[in-house]
Amino acid sequence: MPGSPPVGRNNRGRRRGANNAIIQMEGTLVAETMMAPAKVAVNVTVNGSTYTAEVEPRLLLVHFLRENLGLTGTHVGCDTSQCGACVVQLDGQTVKSCTVLAAQVHGSDILTIEGLAKNGEYDPVQQGFWEMHGLQCGFCTPGMIMSSYALLQRNHNPTEKEIRHALEGNLCRCTGYQNIVRAVQYAAGQRVEGGASTAAGGGEERPMPPTGGPPHDPETVAEWGGELAGTSDDSAS
Ligand code: FES
Ligand code: FES
Repeated sequence: MPGSPPVGRNNRGRRRGANNAIIQMEGTLVAETMMAPAKVAVNVTVNGSTYTAEVEPRLLLVHFLRENLGLTGTHVGCDTSQCGACVVQLDGQTVKSCTVLAAQVHGSDILTIEGLAKNGEYDPVQQGFWEMHGLQCGFCTPGMIMSSYALLQRNHNPTEKEIRHALEGNLCRCTGYQNIVRAVQYAAGQRVEGGASTAAGGGEERPMPPTGGPPHDPETVAEWGGELAGTSDDSAS
């Protein structure tokens, strides 16, 4: 192109750095900007397995998990970081994986929904969602379970209010949340009964939800103490 500087040099005769980009218009220098490197090396442990990959710097962790590693249990439910369907544990901290870059997790340890079951046995939280019908379409469920799992790790016997507070970052379009709360209470009961932990939180004593029959059945709710039967709030806390 007439008037253009030679390749590798800007129109002041300076050589471009490896990551510099020159924007020109009709041979005139308009801007010179830094560009991110094309690929970044990531070494990460996910559910006990180590992976090494070269990723674009802009790649989100949720897409890395789903598309690079094939771990599609972590869902993408929004593009505003509100739904919580993408929740995983990153070095023991609960994160929305749509808010983290894959390049940021280099050297980290990640737990996804696929890593919860051990030796073919569901984690008590997964079992709770099964027993208490804590889902309908299931789209929000991986994130709900991961957030609930994190809650029960730091508070082994949460109250209903504490459960609802812990799940504020997870949205469900189907269930009305009642059975999700029951599922977490069921899991807390399993952990305490099984001696997996002692209560560390401020949860009060309560009868645990029965495991048989549909939880919406009024008799079942009454048998459980009617705690949720009288709750008119059928939405997120
Ligand atoms: Fe909705 Fe991450 S995909 S919060
Ligand atoms: Fe459908 Fe929660 S079960 S979004």
